Amino acid sequence: MFYKPTWWKEAVGYQIYLKSFKDSNNDGIGDLNGIREKLPYLKDLGITLIWICPFYKSPMDDNGYDVADFFDIDPSFGTLDDMKLLIKDAHKLGIRIIADFVMNHTSDEHAWFIESRKSKDNPYRDYYIWADGKIVDGVETPPTNWASFFGGSCWKKDILTNQYYMKIFSNKMPDLNYKNPKVRHEMMNVATFWLDLGIDGFRIDAVAHLGRKDELIDSTMDTLGKYKPDWRMFSNLPVIFDYLREFKENVFDKYDIVTIGEVGGGATPEEALRYSNLEAGSLNMVFNFDHCWSNNVWDLNKKEQVVVDLVNLKKNFRKWQYGLYGKAWTPIYWLNHDHPRLISQYGDPNNIYLSGSMLGSSLYFMWGTPFVYQGEEIGMTNYPFRTIDDFNDVQDKNNYYLNDIENSPNKDEYIYLMGIKSRDNARTIMSWDSSKYAGFSNVKPWFNILPNHKEYNVKKALEDEKSIYKHYREIFKLRANPKYKDTLIYGSYKQLLPRHKDVYAYVRIGNKKILTVSNFFNKDVNVSIRGYKVKKVLLSNYDNPNKALTNLTLRPYETITYLVE
Ligand code: NOJ
Repeated sequence: MFYKPTWWKEAVGYQIYLKSFKDSNNDGIGDLNGIREKLPYLKDLGITLIWICPFYKSPMDDNGYDVADFFDIDPSFGTLDDMKLLIKDAHKLGIRIIADFVMNHTSDEHAWFIESRKSKDNPYRDYYIWADGKIVDGVETPPTNWASFFGGSCWKKDILTNQYYMKIFSNKMPDLNYKNPKVRHEMMNVATFWLDLGIDGFRIDAVAHLGRKDELIDSTMDTLGKYKPDWRMFSNLPVIFDYLREFKENVFDKYDIVTIGEVGGGATPEEALRYSNLEAGSLNMVFNFDHCWSNNVWDLNKKEQVVVDLVNLKKNFRKWQYGLYGKAWTPIYWLNHDHPRLISQYGDPNNIYLSGSMLGSSLYFMWGTPFVYQGEEIGMTNYPFRTIDDFNDVQDKNNYYLNDIENSPNKDEYIYLMGIKSRDNARTIMSWDSSKYAGFSNVKPWFNILPNHKEYNVKKALEDEKSIYKHYREIFKLRANPKYKDTLIYGSYKQLLPRHKDVYAYVRIGNKKILTVSNFFNKDVNVSIRGYKVKKVLLSNYDNPNKALTNLTLRPYETITYLVE
C-alpha cells in the first residue's frame, strides 16, 4: 500500500452551510445548536467529519466569508460556548469538525481594515493591498484591468486616501497582504486559536489566491469587457507555497488535523501536487472543480435541457484519480455551497431516487475522502428562481446590476440561465420534513424553501424503504467494512469503457476487487465488461440486478457494485 493509514483518509465528510441547515432558536437562521441537534442524524448516515462553512462574526455580505472578527462566533449562529459544546458532543459520537479558514481576505468591517483605510501611514496600511489608480487618456482607472470573481474590477477606490484596495471577491472583502509577515503571523494566531479550541482541521478558503503578481501590469487577455478574467494574475503563484510552508511548520504540524485547500477550477493536477504531495506538500488535500461542470450549463440556450457530458466527466475523473493516486490524497465530492444542486446538474429531477443513488455509487466508491453536501443525501434540487428578488447571492446580484439586466429585453432569459448555475441553489433551506417551514424553524426562514420539500425530505427518506439517504448509508457502511476497507479506501482506481457515452464503470483494486457500473441516463443500455467474474453484488439501486458482466443490460439510472475477481 502506498499510503500510511490516517483517520482523515478513512473519514466520510459532510459539508454544512450553517445558515440554512437547522435553526434551533427560531430566528429563521441556522445555528451551531441546530447542528448539535442533528448530530445523531449525521452519525446514522455514516458521517465522521463535518466541515462547517464560516461561523465567525460577519456583516454577511457573502454569508460569512466576509469575516469581521476571526476570534468570535456571529451572534446569529451562537456563541463560543455553543461551539465548544458542539465539538464535545460531536467528538463523543466519533465525528470530527473542521472549520472554514478564510485566509485570503477579511470584511471591510474588520478592525484591521478600519485602521488600514485611515491613512497611508497607518500601522495597518500594509495589512491590505493598496495602489494608486492610473490615468488613461486623462481619466483615472483602477491600477490594473484585472476582473473580480464577483463582477467588475478587482480594485475598489477608497476616497479617504484616494487609493484603491484589492478585492478579488466583493467590495466588502478586501484582500489581505501576505507579503507582510505581520499578516501571516496574525493569521497563524487565528488558526492556533481554533485548533486549541478543539477543531480538527481546516478547509482553507480561496487558498490559491494568497499571492499576486508583483508587478501591477494590465492583462492582455482578449475578451470583451473592460476587466479581464485573467485569474493567473492572482492564482497558484509560487510564493503561496512558501506561505503555506510557514503555516505548516509553525501551526498545522503541531496538531493531528486535516487541511484541505480550495484551489478552484484553474489548478492542474501538477499544481495540486505542489500543495498536497505526500512528501513535501503543506496541505493534506485540495478541492478542484474540474468534474463539477461536465454539461452544457455555461452555454445553455433557453430551449435546451441540461445535458450531461459523461465522456468529459469521465475524462476529468481520470485526470484527477490517476494524476494524484500514490502521490497525494484527494477529497471526492459532487458539489459545494458554490454550485447548483447535483440532481439538477447531473441527475434527473423526475427520477430523484434512481438518479441520486446512481450518482452516489458512481462517486463514493472512487478513491478519496467523500464530502457530501447538505441535502445531497435526500436529493435536493435547484430552486425555481423567477425574479431577481428570489436571489440572495452577492455574486449574482452584482452581475445583474453591473450589466443593467433590469432594463434589458433579455431579463427573463438571464434570470432563467442565472438560476441554473446560481450558488443560491445550494443555499436553500434544508428539507427536514414536509411542514410549512420544512422542519428547519418555527418561523419563516431567511431564504427560500424548495417547493418539493413536501415529497423529498429527511423524515420521508428515513421512512421510505428505498431512498438516496439509505443508499448513501450503505455506501459508507461498505467503505467502513473491515473486509472492503483496504480496497475501497486505499486501493487503486481503474476506469473501464472510457469512451462509452452512457455508462460509467470503474474498478477499485486492493486486496479485493470492487467494480461499480452505472447507467447515467433515462433509458436501457447494454454493455459488455470483460476480464472480471462476479462473486457477489454488494449494492444496487434496483431489485434483482443482473450479474452477467459480459452482457449487461442496465435499466434507467441503474447502478450496481460487485465484488469481482
Ligand atoms: C470560496 C467560497 O467557497 C465562496 O463561497 C466564497 O464566496 C469565496 N471563496 C470568497 O470567500
